[in-house]
Formats: sequence, structure tokens, C-alpha cells
Amino acid sequence: IKVFADGADLDDIRALNGNPLIRGFTTNPTLMRAAGVTEYEAFARRVLEFITDKPISFEVFADELELMYRQAKVIASWGGNVNVKIPVTNTKGQFTGPILERLSREGVQVNVTAVFTHAQVRDVLAALCPDTHAIVSVFAGRIADTGLDPIPYMEEAAAMIAAFPHAELLWASPREVLNIYQADAAGCDIITVTPNLLKKLSLQGKNLDEFSLDTVKMFYKDATTAGYQ
Ligand code: E4P
Repeated sequence: IKVFADGADLDDIRALNGNPLIRGFTTNPTLMRAAGVTEYEAFARRVLEFITDKPISFEVFADELELMYRQAKVIASWGGNVNVKIPVTNTKGQFTGPILERLSREGVQVNVTAVFTHAQVRDVLAALCPDTHAIVSVFAGRIADTGLDPIPYMEEAAAMIAAFPHAELLWASPREVLNIYQADAAGCDIITVTPNLLKKLSLQGKNLDEFSLDTVKMFYKDATTAGYQ
């Protein structure tokens, strides 16, 4: 599985670019806003000065399909390593299939985002040009937030996408390090992980007795720092 980094903090992206584990990057407007990005294109172009050989996704922010299409063409022109994120629907629930079809046919590498259902996966795959690279981002973590087990869900999505050699399945919105292994076992091609989750990778293989002791020390330190009597 390829691990991508999800976020829009310039320093994080710069640092993670030097991390051999990270094979690509994803952003979205919510992450951009949280990182304090005000000038969308200027930010993207700054990132693309140093992210030159790894794939990076930037999302359209228009809502009307024709405007989304035009914005996607502009975003795609920023670099050959850019995937244009297109939400599977707009805010009115209109399926973006017609523009996915046009963009994909014209060679634009899309990353179809906010995909939650198998019917959406099926319809997206039907819209994509089989010869153009595309990513399908299924929000496994948000699916799990609803109480559903994302693993069989992602396995079925992986089986659907297997017939499309130029399409890759991305496990989006992971919640824990374990999801990286689950995504790999489920047949996903990519998982995109926040810097906070990436920090937890250093815990892999940690002795659990030692971890227990560290946790108790944390409680004790905080209790004494707070001066509880
Ligand atoms: C990635 O491409 C997605 O935008 C991201 O993983 C969504 O994460 P969230 O569901 O935790 O907001």
C-alpha cells in the first residue's frame, strides 16, 4: 500500500516530502482553511515548487458542474503530478459523472472524493476513461463513524476497482494506525494519513508493559503539575 500525507500545512508538507514512507499528498478545502490558507492558487503553487515528483491532490471548490469542470482544468494545468479532486456530487446531490467523464477523457487525472457507497464507486468507474489514471477516495473512517465495519466495505470496493488498471482505491479518513494494515489487507492501493497519525507510527512494536508504565507516568505527571491534593 502507498501511504500519502493528508494536510495543508506548508511546513508539514515540506518535512514529509523528505520522509521515504510518504509517496504522495492530499489536501481538501477544510484542511486548507484549518491551516490558514487564504490564497488557494498561491498556496498550491508554493507547494508545487518542491513537490515535483510525487502525486498531490488539490480539490475544486466550485459547486456548479460546469464551473467545477473549468476549475479542474486550471488546477490540472498547475503540474503533471497534480490530481484534481472532484467530489462525487455537488452540494445539491447532483452526481458529477458527466464532468468526470469529460475530464478523464481529456487526460485529467482526477481524485474522486467523498465517495461513501458502492453505487457511487460503480457509477464513478463507469464514468472514468479506462486509460487515464484516477483515484477513488472512499471515506472509510467516516463510514466507520456511522457504526459500519469499513473492512468488508473496502474489500468490495477494491474488488470493483480491480477491473480498472488505471484506477486506484484510496482509504480516506483513517482514524488509527491499525487502518494502514486494514487498508492494505482489504486491497486498497493508497491510504492518506494525517501528520498526527503519522507521529503514532513511532509506537509500532512498542512494548505494552512499557506503554502502560508511560501512560501511568503521564497521569501522575499531570496530577502533580495540576497540584491535585
Ligand atoms: C482525503 O483525501 C480526505 O479528504 C480526508 O482523508 C478526509 O478526512 P476526514 O474524513 O477525517 O475529514
